[in-house]
Amino acid sequence: MAVTILRTVSELRRWRDQLRPGVRVGFVPTMGSLHEGHLSLLREARRRVPEGAGHVALSIFVNPTQFGPNEDLDRYPRDEAGDLAKAREAGADVAFCPLDPHEMFPESAATWVEVPALATGLCGASRPGHFRGVCTVVTKLWNLVRPDVAVFGQKDFQQLAILRRLHADLFLCGELVGMPIVREPDGLAMSSRNANLPPDARLRARAIPRFIAEVQRRFTRGARARTELLADATALLEPGVIDYVELVDAATLAPVADVERPALLAVAVHFAGVRLIDNTVLEP
Ligand code: PAJ
Repeated sequence: MAVTILRTVSELRRWRDQLRPGVRVGFVPTMGSLHEGHLSLLREARRRVPEGAGHVALSIFVNPTQFGPNEDLDRYPRDEAGDLAKAREAGADVAFCPLDPHEMFPESAATWVEVPALATGLCGASRPGHFRGVCTVVTKLWNLVRPDVAVFGQKDFQQLAILRRLHADLFLCGELVGMPIVREPDGLAMSSRNANLPPDARLRARAIPRFIAEVQRRFTRGARARTELLADATALLEPGVIDYVELVDAATLAPVADVERPALLAVAVHFAGVRLIDNTVLEP
């Protein structure tokens, strides 16, 4: 069966309202240009909402409110036809793909959703307003789709932490599930933005998973101090321009000097003007 495409908020509302009670809904919000990372989320949603039990919906919306003025909104890769074929293969049966950003953000919209306590560091520091845009669009989508289960990736660890807080604080319906990072064979985390890397930068970007593996190795061998874990290892990242390398508490996202509880190693690096993020959790 083909994926049902919904273009407007009223079409999405109509689709949701006609579902009988007991019909379950799985939901995966995306900005499209789907890769195996996204597809792993769709497969998980389908596993939790098998055919016959309900529907798996995804959204494909390049949300302008989460991009800064000098960021890559215009260059963000788009491939709706390809996305719909892949999404169907992975088990989706409904796709909300608004053609006009004003569907989600009409001129009159004046409400913003924020989780400031978790959004000040890491990507929040280098992308002011980014998580406000994410939280607002996810809240709107959540209210429209009313999922029983919504699935997100740990690739965007800070986003996931913020959305877990938002989900609990605003009593959003259903369950929020986090899924592990899917990587390319050479270790680079899959990202829609990888498509914008020129070939030489794509090769240089292997430095990111190498750096993460090196810090993991030091941790496994007993290193616990930030200085010991990171010190000269950041030299591995130098083929790119480092935005940040951070070691933070995995629950609070506050910087830590020593790993005593699960800690997040998070990095953001620019290669040929393309900003890539990656992370791993160090578990004592
Ligand atoms: P996007 O970057 O398209 O990612 C959609 C979902 O896919 C997110 O939950 C993200 O964490 C997950 N994902 C991306 N790459 C992944 C990988 N390599 N492995 C596992 N999961 C991965 O994140 C967004 O869109 C937007 O901010 C959104 C939540 C849709 C709001 O606009």
